[in-house]
Amino acid sequence: MIFSELDHILDATWDSVELGSTLPKHPFRRAVLGTYDGHRPQIRTVILRFSDRESRQLQVFSDNRSAKSHEIMQYPEISLLFYDPQEGIQIRFNGPARIEAGTKELEEFWADLPPESKINYATHGIPGSPVDDPLSAFPGVEHGIPAAAFKNFSVIHFTAEEIDWLRLGVAGHFRARFVFRNNGFTGTWLVP
Ligand SMILES: Cc1cc2nc3c(=O)[nH]c(=O)nc-3n(C[C@H](O)[C@H](O)[C@H](O)COP(=O)(O)O)c2cc1C
Repeated sequence: MIFSELDHILDATWDSVELGSTLPKHPFRRAVLGTYDGHRPQIRTVILRFSDRESRQLQVFSDNRSAKSHEIMQYPEISLLFYDPQEGIQIRFNGPARIEAGTKELEEFWADLPPESKINYATHGIPGSPVDDPLSAFPGVEHGIPAAAFKNFSVIHFTAEEIDWLRLGVAGHFRARFVFRNNGFTGTWLVP
């Protein structure tokens, strides 16, 4: 990949998130999701589940009871940060997000999720709340998945509005910003 052309960088960025959303071992499989809780920023690791360049969508699964879900409902502007240590590339996406939970579409999607995924949404108590015995929070997959788990399952739908791309390398550092305006992203080189 030649990183001298802004268009190439934009193409490579979407290609990489596409790979991240489909290949478990790709460095972009994981992202750091940044929200604002009204007092300070909050960040955490998440798995990238879906990407679509056309609609500028990235998707992440979340427990609808979690802090991040409440933060997004109150402050929808979020960041998603990806890092590829091999390539020395960091990409920060900024834009609005919304939470989808309990819809007909999600019901169909939920039906195909394996029990070991579903069980993550079946914890007794709200994620992040204190518990005496950490093992007691999970009901145990052998008892089946409680019906209530589905209403805790949610998808964070993110729409990219800004992309900040950075590559640190021995041959020099490069940084570019892409902003979505009038049906397309416009790129600018930045001082790294
Ligand atoms: C490798 C890894 C992947 C994770 N993926 C997700 C994920 O896809 N969705 C999610 O809600 N939490 C995921 N987590 C847990 C979050 O990092 C976080 O601890 C949890 O969601 C609670 O965050 P909150 O209290 O800020 O909402 C992951 C953690 C790790 C270490």
